Amino acid sequence: DLVRSRGLGDVYKRQAIDGPAGAGKSSISKVVANELGYLYIDTGAMYRGVTWAVLDSHVDVKNQKDVESLLPSLDLTLEPTANACKVFVKGQDVTDLIRQQQINENVSTIASYKGVREYLVERQQAMAAVGGVILDGRDIGSVVLPKAELKIYLTASVDARAKRRWLEVQGTSNEQSLEDIKNNVESRDEMDKNRDESPLVCVEDAIVVDSSNMTFDETVEHILHLVQELSLIHI
Ligand code: CDP
Ligand code: CDP
Repeated sequence: DLVRSRGLGDVYKRQAIDGPAGAGKSSISKVVANELGYLYIDTGAMYRGVTWAVLDSHVDVKNQKDVESLLPSLDLTLEPTANACKVFVKGQDVTDLIRQQQINENVSTIASYKGVREYLVERQQAMAAVGGVILDGRDIGSVVLPKAELKIYLTASVDARAKRRWLEVQGTSNEQSLEDIKNNVESRDEMDKNRDESPLVCVEDAIVVDSSNMTFDETVEHILHLVQELSLIHI
């Protein structure tokens, strides 16, 4: 409320949150966006949606050309709501389906393809053009919104991130061992940081937030403070 009553929400038109898997980007962004009255856009969900469509069409994930030839008929829609970004492929709600293990295992390969990235980045920039948005992903500060007013690189140790992901899937149909989750998180980080096309990087003008030893609420508070502090400079 402090942030809103000071009108700081108007200063920060676009926020970029990048970082490795399980750092807390989407859950934290959602809460921060709600606090500021911003729209939250989950770009990872878009890469997951494309991956779902590729698997559903039985296209070989490793065949870049075939994957990219699916794009013109993809019909991918992102519907940001207060609680989550819903994802539709050809009208089918795949919001829950894109969190499955099979998607986790293939999404970083799909996200390494230039054509896929160009296709999604164009859509992300169009959605962000209205302003008052928080986008989270891997290349938001570097490629999608290089002029974002606030850039955060949210990270945490691989053990902390794997544990969080593990806790999340307990009692769900996506249940997996801590070790399997850690392996997936590590292999995705590796691919995301080392690919040729817009790899995960911490850009020079990003503020690093290491949430390894922070609770969820502390992380939210910390980011809201950053918004506040930086806004004061502009006022
Ligand atoms: O939530 P989690 O960190 O598991 O992943 P996500 O944000 O849903 O993103 C899934 C995958 O999509 C990442 O591992 C990246 O390979 C890719 N991605 C990307 O390349 N660029 C983005 N802006 C967002 C996601
Ligand atoms: O989007 P990303 O992959 O970076 O992570 P997430 O899906 O937002 O967060 C993974 C899990 O970590 C969620 O269940 C969060 O509630 C949790 N989390 C946490 O326990 N402590 C934090 N400081 C940040 C996130």
